[in-house]
Amino acid sequence: MKLRLSTGKWLAALLIAALLSLTAWVAWDNWGRFLNTSASTASQSEAVDASTLVRGEYLTHIGGCMACHTTKAGEPLAGGRRIDTPFGAVFTSNLTSSQTHGLGLWTEADFQNALHWGRSRDGRLLLPVFPYNHTSAFTRDDVHAIFSWLQTVKPVEQAQPTHRLTWPLGTQPVIAVWRSLFFTPTPFKTNTSESEAWNRGAYLVQSSGHCAACHGQRNALGSFPALDDLSGGFLSPQMWIAPSLVDATQTTLAQSSPQDIAHLLRIGQSQSAHANGPMAEFVQHTGQYLSQTDALAIATYLKSKLNTVAPNSTPPTAPIAASSPTAQTLYKTHCATCHGDNGEGKTHAYPALAGNPAIVLAQPDNLIQMALYGGYGPSTAVQPRPYGMPPYLFTLNNQQIADVLNHIRSQWGNRATAVSPIQVDRVRAAAY
Ligand code: HEC
Ligand code: HEC
Ligand code: HEC
Repeated sequence: MKLRLSTGKWLAALLIAALLSLTAWVAWDNWGRFLNTSASTASQSEAVDASTLVRGEYLTHIGGCMACHTTKAGEPLAGGRRIDTPFGAVFTSNLTSSQTHGLGLWTEADFQNALHWGRSRDGRLLLPVFPYNHTSAFTRDDVHAIFSWLQTVKPVEQAQPTHRLTWPLGTQPVIAVWRSLFFTPTPFKTNTSESEAWNRGAYLVQSSGHCAACHGQRNALGSFPALDDLSGGFLSPQMWIAPSLVDATQTTLAQSSPQDIAHLLRIGQSQSAHANGPMAEFVQHTGQYLSQTDALAIATYLKSKLNTVAPNSTPPTAPIAASSPTAQTLYKTHCATCHGDNGEGKTHAYPALAGNPAIVLAQPDNLIQMALYGGYGPSTAVQPRPYGMPPYLFTLNNQQIADVLNHIRSQWGNRATAVSPIQVDRVRAAAY
């Protein structure tokens, strides 16, 4: 008797074989390289000099470790902070020296694995909310400094809360597949044809700064953007636009001096820009700790990335914003006292709305956020009590907010697409 398989069965067999090899590849990609690493044994009693500890502490501040791994009222680095993602809520872990819940029993090799490979001490693959693509860019020296300092942080006995992700998203096989698709450790490479300051800036942006985590583009599966992708991103549960830092029309980087940019990163204000929303939080918890030299280095790098080629002038597909007598009255009544009759603002207090790239971004989400919820600039050591803007959530309806935003998008030389009440409603309904 001849063994004959139908085409359908052949296809099924092929599919199974393909799936098996894919599984083997994903498994190897995520776990295989660790087969030979023996279980960690603590032998860390080498003396660490004081300057290493100082650098370690500095890096935990400017690397956002402190910001993400601390709750509002909680102990520093004890974790438990909730981070909302399009896929559910994730909670940060305890980085104190607690032996039960923190890094107390970790060796430096365990820690290097976590930062470089996104892998916990027990082998668990970590969720990419921890930006380990960026921490993989850290030099060994910096990892050593961070680890040494963390080991001096007093233990806090607090467990990491359980993540609340839609099943099966937080499971190890799904994380493994995701990592095989989107994660490769990316150690920093010095560019010898650039200056020392440029390289320092590039290193900080790509490692500790993790600017691309917000300013880079992700796909629908939440891929990691390239470390130097600063082409603009959308923070989806929050509904904020992180503008492109390479398109010279989207920010004030082109017209700002490096000193001014350093100011923006450290204090949340420059001559012509104010940090709002998630950028204000970034400055308050992370940027303000940058040394002036490091902030200037970042500015040097950002300046060099600016795309000076004229943007292609395809006419906008949406209608252009226009004002009306009602809109003008709304502006006069609610906004002009601070932002000025002609949108001129007041230096170091109220941002100018005239000639401000943030006002004419194609997507108006940030403006709608500001108009609905108002906000404060970051509170920093230099400026502990920044000026604030009141919320108009209950004062103005969707049509009125659209009207007043269309006013500021069409006056004083500003020109941008129109904002519709539906767009306002979408941000209001998200009520993040
Ligand atoms: C954007 C927020 C964010 C930033 C910034 C961040 N982390 Fe985390 N980190 C997380 C989250 C969330 C987890 C938990 C991941 C999980 O449980 O799968 C985590 C996990 C870790 C772990 C694994 C702990 C364990 O028990 O397995 C280590 C180590 C760690 N982070 C160190 C750092 C260091 C060092 C920095 C700064 C250079 C840093 N993180 C910056 C969010 C962040
Ligand atoms: C948590 C997300 C997040 C991170 C991390 C982040 N940004 Fe931003 N950034 C934003 C958002 C949102 C805006 C838009 C709101 C605003 O204009 O303040 C913004 C605005 C900016 C602007 C525009 C200012 C202007 O001219 O209007 C600059 C420049 C900037 N960010 C630089 C950086 C750099 C450099 C880093 C890394 C060192 C960084 N950001 C990290 C979210 C982020
Ligand atoms: C009490 C003073 C005050 C009033 C009134 C006020 N604002 Fe503001 N506005 C501010 C301050 C302060 C900021 C900067 C806040 C920050 O840094 O987060 C700001 C920021 C903004 C921004 C973001 C600008 C940028 O550079 O990113 C927009 C847009 C804006 N206001 C629009 C309005 C509109 C529209 C109204 C009226 C409906 C209004 N403001 C009323 C004080 C005010």
